[in-house]
Amino acid sequence: MSETVFTSAIIGTGRISFSLGFDKKREQPASHTMALIGNRRIKLIAGCDRDEKKLESWRVFNEKINSHFLRFLDFETPLGSEPFAPLVFGSSEELYRAVHPDIVTVAVNEDSHMAECLAAIKAKPRLVILEKPVALNSFEAGKIMYASKENNVPVMVNHERRFSADYIAAKNFIPKIGDIQSVRGELFSGLRVYGKEFEADGSYSLLHDGTHLVDLIQFLLGIKLKSPRVSGVYKDEKGVVRNFTARYKTENIPEIQIQMSGRSKFFSFGIDILGTLGRICVGNGYAKFYLREESKLYTGFYSLTRQKVRLPKKTGYCSNMIQNAVDFLDGTAPLISPLEDAVQDLKVLEDIKTFLF
Ligand SMILES: NC(=O)c1ccc[n+]([C@@H]2O[C@H](COP(=O)([O-])OP(=O)(O)OC[C@H]3O[C@@H](n4cnc5c(N)ncnc54)[C@H](O)[C@@H]3O)[C@@H](O)[C@H]2O)c1
Repeated sequence: MSETVFTSAIIGTGRISFSLGFDKKREQPASHTMALIGNRRIKLIAGCDRDEKKLESWRVFNEKINSHFLRFLDFETPLGSEPFAPLVFGSSEELYRAVHPDIVTVAVNEDSHMAECLAAIKAKPRLVILEKPVALNSFEAGKIMYASKENNVPVMVNHERRFSADYIAAKNFIPKIGDIQSVRGELFSGLRVYGKEFEADGSYSLLHDGTHLVDLIQFLLGIKLKSPRVSGVYKDEKGVVRNFTARYKTENIPEIQIQMSGRSKFFSFGIDILGTLGRICVGNGYAKFYLREESKLYTGFYSLTRQKVRLPKKTGYCSNMIQNAVDFLDGTAPLISPLEDAVQDLKVLEDIKTFLF
């Protein structure tokens, strides 16, 4: 087994990068920082944020956790055997001047994805981990794609559900449910679905979380969503889109539906796949698998019966993502969430958008 340690740096030390790692309700690790320092094959050497306060708490945490490991656990930490605090910088430019990490994680706000991902690629690490969505639009995403190819720097995008045990179980279960009759994906939240004025910072759910839904449908079913029919568009008094349903069909699946709401007083994310022999319902906090079995209620009938599918206690959505980065650098696995797929997700979202103006 390889023992090579890969150095890494983080651009952006906000929620997904750092503070979600302290959310007691979330499955941990829930942040890039926690997942990186939790992987023995990675040494987190630097971080950068233009917000001084966030950067300082990130630095203090990393310094503390490292000395804690060394002092109390007599344990060689992922940061090495000497007390060590990652270096911190107010901009990525300064960071790349000082260090040359193997892995750069770009976890800044959407409006900085393109600039920071291009800067990361230019610094020539061995891999860039980019937060979703790839960028604000496919023009920006195209630039990232071009730079990635030109510089031969692979980029993976953190569509985290691809790494999550429950969704992986769903993907593995699909061959058992026969021919797919229909697929329904739902994303309900209180965040506006779309408004042109929000394109500049990407603060609308079609992009923000819609990228997860579209990515997952394409990933689970191995399809490309094209030529949507969009109905049920509802706009609020300000003309901001709050509801829509997009419908697709492929050669083998007659009905695929994506339904989004931005006026729900709750958050719900899930996919329901109906086959001729069974059904899969998977989403935030649930994974249910059904197959046809002889009915307990009626002689001569078959009903759907919930199957016992063993799932690990933890889905591992964040740590598996980092492990995939390590395996990829070891040359033992392909990227599970490559840039090309995420760019295709963005195109699907843009196709839908044309119906929402
Ligand atoms: N994969 C997921 O499920 C998931 C979950 C949450 C957020 N995200 C994505 O992660 C990204 C960040 O979201 P967040 O919630 O952590 O936001 P955040 O605002 O909490 O953190 C972003 C940080 O980046 C810093 N920053 C922005 N531009 C910068 C620049 N050019 N240089 C240095 N620092 C910069 C900000 O100061 C901030 O501290 C977004 O793209 C978001 O969509 C993904």
